[in-house]
Amino acid sequence: MHSFLYRANVLLSFAITILGVVCAIASFTDNFNNPTPHAQVKVLNINWFQKQPNGNDEVSMTLNISADLQSLFTWNTKQVFVFLAAEYETPKNAVNQISLWDGIIPSKEHAKFWTHTSNKYRFIDQGSNLRGKEFNLTMHWHIMPKTGKMIADKIVIPGYKLPAEYR
Ligand SMILES: *[C@@H]1O[C@H](CO)[C@@H](O)[C@H](O)[C@H]1NC(C)=O
Ligand SMILES: *[C@@H]1O[C@H](CO)[C@@H](O)[C@H](O)[C@H]1NC(C)=O
Repeated sequence: MHSFLYRANVLLSFAITILGVVCAIASFTDNFNNPTPHAQVKVLNINWFQKQPNGNDEVSMTLNISADLQSLFTWNTKQVFVFLAAEYETPKNAVNQISLWDGIIPSKEHAKFWTHTSNKYRFIDQGSNLRGKEFNLTMHWHIMPKTGKMIADKIVIPGYKLPAEYR
């Protein structure tokens, strides 16, 4: 009896060790994946741009977001969360980050896409800093693995500018 439990225990810890090793290899091999993702965003239209009664600036725009994130997928990838943010500087903050759009990519087959959309989340500045403001659009992603740690990275697309006047 004693020896049976002992053996079962040895077997179990052996199995757990193997499982641990397999998981470690799975997440380790992810380190060798050198992804080459691409993202492109065009501001197709400024739909409107105004100062709200409370003094904050808000802009609505139509975007064409296109990306090829297929290289982020390995056999250890469960899904990839992406979001597009506007990043700009104001006198108060070196970086203001406003999320405009996001999505979940469930598989490699869906990782090459384009979408024609107005900003899903409101682009509001706490203040009236947006007229003529230069900004970057950044495509951020979080790779959710089947095992191991989450990997996050981004592509910065610089060189956008808001109109000088409200409209
Ligand atoms: C959006 O961009 C993609 C890739 O650059 C292009 O194929 C597509 O025609 C564009 N769509 C619109 C509505 O501009
Ligand atoms: C925008 O991108 C440029 C070039 O990558 C960078 O120098 C600048 O700091 C960025 N601006 C913000 C507010 O992140």
